[in-house]
Amino acid sequence: MPIRKAVIPAAGLGTRLLPATKAVPKEMMPIVNKPAIQVIVEECVSVGIELIVLINGRYKGALEDHFDVSYEVQDVLALQGKAELLDRITHLSQMVDIVSVRQNRPLGLGHAVLCARPVIGDQEPFAVLLPDDLVDAEQPATGQLAKVYDETGMGALALVEVPPGHEPMYGMVAGDPMGGRRHRLRTMVEKPPAGQAPSNLGIVGRYVLPGSVFGHIAATAPGKGGEIQLTDALVALMEREGVVGHLLEGRRYDTGEVAGLIEANLAYAMKDPVLAERLRAFMRTLV
Ligand code: G1P
Repeated sequence: MPIRKAVIPAAGLGTRLLPATKAVPKEMMPIVNKPAIQVIVEECVSVGIELIVLINGRYKGALEDHFDVSYEVQDVLALQGKAELLDRITHLSQMVDIVSVRQNRPLGLGHAVLCARPVIGDQEPFAVLLPDDLVDAEQPATGQLAKVYDETGMGALALVEVPPGHEPMYGMVAGDPMGGRRHRLRTMVEKPPAGQAPSNLGIVGRYVLPGSVFGHIAATAPGKGGEIQLTDALVALMEREGVVGHLLEGRRYDTGEVAGLIEANLAYAMKDPVLAERLRAFMRTLV
């Protein structure tokens, strides 16, 4: 079954990037010349997603505005004959529908995903993309997981190898190897203390889940930090239907923190030959 819908939880406050995020949502921080949210939406479009449910919060209207058709800007560009730029700012809104749902209480990631239930329903699989996590990969991360879902019939989530000491920042898992990069998960624990994780494999923000997960989230009690954790709902899903962890191909950046945002910018800029040449020379003067 093709994955047609995606949820992007974007109601978080972005405290790790303060003061940049006092008045500007963290998802609007640029990756070269695109806001991070656009890179995530482009990932959705590239794997055939037709409907995105953006879970939004207070003061974050810029995320919705960004995907509006902006007639003011378009008219100016059209007058100036800047067709390429015009296409660059309009094509996304023609490729995907974006519905915005408000998460009106900060009850955690599980709750944020649950806010999409009335739009997505319990009958079809859907993707979840956490916009802090950028994955630079030949095959988009969501596409990698959609393939796992398709071939195994089980919910799939993305894994990376977590360096020692970083376990308290991730949902940590352990599982049985299924061949290739796949593990059938046996244990999941949200942000364990350092040294107490079941393995070195941690979850990063890409999931393809069956619609039945909504029922599990709805039945999940508050967990770590008093929040309704997606990881806890996935434990219930794992026990009843199975969940596969897929070690991501590609490179992942945490753009929700300063160093990760800068690294992502450098890495993405270096893909552009003109920027790359300039940056290479500039970096030599610094290091
Ligand atoms: C969330 C999840 C966590 C996962 C992480 C990946 O945590 O709860 O399981 O490992 O995303 O980025 P957050 O980083 O939103 O606190």
